[in-house]
Amino acid sequence: MTARPKILVTGSNGQVGKEIKQLESSFPRFEFIFLSREDLPIHHFELLRNFFKGFHPQYLINCAGYTAVDRAETEKELAFQVNAEAVGVMAAVCKEYSTRFIHISTDYVFDGTATSPYKEDALTNPQSVYGASKLQGEQEALKYNPDTIIIRTAWVYSEFGKNFVKTMLKLMSEREEISVVSDQIGSPTYAANLAEVILRIISSSRWKPGIYNYSDEGIISWYEFALAIKEITRSSCRVNPIPSTAYPTPAKRPSYSVLDKTKIQEAFEVSAKDWRSSLALCISRLQ
Ligand SMILES: NC(=O)c1ccc[n+]([C@@H]2O[C@H](COP(=O)([O-])OP(=O)(O)OC[C@H]3O[C@@H](n4cnc5c(N)ncnc54)[C@H](OP(=O)(O)O)[C@@H]3O)[C@@H](O)[C@H]2O)c1
Repeated sequence: MTARPKILVTGSNGQVGKEIKQLESSFPRFEFIFLSREDLPIHHFELLRNFFKGFHPQYLINCAGYTAVDRAETEKELAFQVNAEAVGVMAAVCKEYSTRFIHISTDYVFDGTATSPYKEDALTNPQSVYGASKLQGEQEALKYNPDTIIIRTAWVYSEFGKNFVKTMLKLMSEREEISVVSDQIGSPTYAANLAEVILRIISSSRWKPGIYNYSDEGIISWYEFALAIKEITRSSCRVNPIPSTAYPTPAKRPSYSVLDKTKIQEAFEVSAKDWRSSLALCISRLQ
């Protein structure tokens, strides 16, 4: 019996990592190796090299990241170590071992001043430490391994970890009224959909390196997202729209971060799922 190709997944306790784990049985022709932060802190480069020496994976999906967007403003060094330096090292190690590397990046590489969906080659201009660290990660990945696939995504939620949907569900169950910003526009991404797209790219055996956008289909504000959560759960909580100026945060968020998904759809024949039915599915799984 020939050995199955190995897929190493870092950051496996995060939202995307856990959704990949949920799909493991649907992709039986691969052997998955899931590594959490405790198993493999990606900024410990020797450890990273040792894992490669031991496993020789055919694919690496990097789901690990420093994702505390506001905290990054005061923890700049660690954010860059994890989101940039470690990604460059991973890319180089992948090149050394002929491992195909898929890395996840973000809409925060843009400044949010666009008025139509961002294509992959649009000018980047991050407005936060997190965004800048993720942009440097993209650049280092492609510098040390031009064969890398980078997927930029946005507004990720799932039944796992901390995210907007879970926060809203909690607040709506505790309060009579909440306020949500209505002047930041984007597209939500159910981590399960992103996980499936990543595994379909790998199993398509059609490897086309470069940067790709992926989010679910639809363009909404955070306020509209909250309203949908209220409607799906039939909550009686009142949801009020507020401007971003009424909800200041340490890190600046792009006011418009809709991603154009044409490239990934054409390259890999994957389609983006509707945001609302994806949200309903996630909520049903949570309940
Ligand atoms: N969430 C979003 O809205 C969003 C939007 C755009 C792009 N992205 C990108 O998508 C990717 C996955 O995001 P996610 O939502 O799944 O994030 P997440 O739930 O925060 O998961 C990130 C995982 O990385 C782990 N991690 C942190 N530092 C690490 C280190 N030094 N070494 C190894 N693991 C480490 C975390 O460990 P612990 O579990 O121990 O904390 C966590 O399990 C990230 O690259 C993120 O930048 C996310």
